[in-house]
Amino acid sequence: MSVNGVRVHEKVLTLDTMNPQVKSVEYAVRGPIVQRAVQIEKELKTGIKKPFTEVIKANIGDCQAMGQKPITFFRQVLALCSYPDLLEDSKFPEDAKARAQRILQACGGGSLGAYSASQGIEMIRQDVAQYIERRDGGVKCDPENIYLSTGASNAIVTMLKLLVSGEGACRTGVMISIPQYPLYSAALAELDAVQISYYLDEDHCWSLNVNELRRALQEAKSHCSPRALCIINPGNPTGQVQSRQCIEDVIRFAAEEKLFLMADEVYQDNVYADGCKFHSFKKVLFEMGPQYSEKVELASFHSTSKCYMGECGFRGGYMEVVNLDLDVKAQLTKLVSVRLCPPVPGQALLDVVVNPPQPHEPSYSTFIKERSDTLSALAEKANMTQEILNQIPGIQCNPVQGAMYTFPRIHLPPKAIQEAKEKAEAPDMFYCMKLLEETGICLIPGSGFGQREGSYHFRMTILPPKEKLMIVLAKIQEFHQRFTAQYS
Ligand SMILES: Cc1ncc(COP(=O)(O)O)c(C=O)c1O
Repeated sequence: MSVNGVRVHEKVLTLDTMNPQVKSVEYAVRGPIVQRAVQIEKELKTGIKKPFTEVIKANIGDCQAMGQKPITFFRQVLALCSYPDLLEDSKFPEDAKARAQRILQACGGGSLGAYSASQGIEMIRQDVAQYIERRDGGVKCDPENIYLSTGASNAIVTMLKLLVSGEGACRTGVMISIPQYPLYSAALAELDAVQISYYLDEDHCWSLNVNELRRALQEAKSHCSPRALCIINPGNPTGQVQSRQCIEDVIRFAAEEKLFLMADEVYQDNVYADGCKFHSFKKVLFEMGPQYSEKVELASFHSTSKCYMGECGFRGGYMEVVNLDLDVKAQLTKLVSVRLCPPVPGQALLDVVVNPPQPHEPSYSTFIKERSDTLSALAEKANMTQEILNQIPGIQCNPVQGAMYTFPRIHLPPKAIQEAKEKAEAPDMFYCMKLLEETGICLIPGSGFGQREGSYHFRMTILPPKEKLMIVLAKIQEFHQRFTAQYS
């Protein structure tokens, strides 16, 4: 190709030639609003004056980026594993040293820097299996069903990859909640699978109703082959905790409709509301008897990124598969082996998460204190966030029963909706962008997670330290009143 007589090298890879599935991927959590927030931070650094002095990122569930302290014991073990000379250092407690030595003995060449088995280090898979058995009141867990992963994200995408096949009306359909965590819609777009949206019930604390699952499934059957049902519990972005009854209903539905269940349980320790309790899908499945426990195919996911750990950067996680066809399991093992193995430091971290200090060990009391301080601070902030947001006329917020987010509904004046549409922007994107420009607060518009047509929301994390969270909430209040007045 030549431009004005000058030969221009034509790229092999252009927007026209690249994989169209990748182009169709959207991920709001790190989308345009966050890019603008980063730009504003740079502008502030260069001395450009704004009506605020700092950008507060309440957009992502990145606990330690928001100031949450890591658990001391976990970091001690990781430090010892990374630099074993420290095993001679008297500053480290004996239980941390024993854990580190045990982990290192299970690593190739006794080093964290070696590749591991593709499914993950066997000893750590055994520890994960024992953790699951304790969590689930003794329901058996086979370490051979555990796959360690690069965070939960990677295991979720791997499982979806196995599920997607077929052409046209036979293409795999995957049921995901709306609102959803956008990893799911992004992965389905990338895999060219059919997204089957089922709506959570905002009027009933974002609960999941099986009739809505039925409606969505029936509609989808005309244009795809529904194969899987994804559940996030506790919920992101909606913060609901599913009742045991609801989980049983979902399992019955999956059995009736022959759907593969994917249970995303990364927030399993983040339950705050009175009367709410985390029930794992695996436990409920097995308590429903062999009619279900021998039949329903289930993959459940956990991670080191959330709960009281907040160790997102280590990229640790696991998947447990139940009733997976043995030949498919061999394919899964083959697939993960292509990527060699999940990060070994992440596996080591997962090991201490599932095998924390015990009552007779020196680190126990500090561990328990740190864990409960973190979880009770989150519970306090969950409650405070909901209370303050509900005092703002035009904002309606369900209780934050669990996880790390609130997803309040915002009532926007018709004039604001009109102006957004003229700019070809989603109205809640328009709102959040203005909020960012005027206050420095970075939230994610509800449109990035999906919502019922004509309703608008934003997602905000409850992670900022309490004092900062109070400032965020006060600024949102002020902004919302100003915005509403401006467009009324
Ligand atoms: C529901 C849900 N699943 C999975 C993930 C991904 O977690 P990880 O860091 O383990 O990949 C997140 C992260 O925010 C999440 O909210």
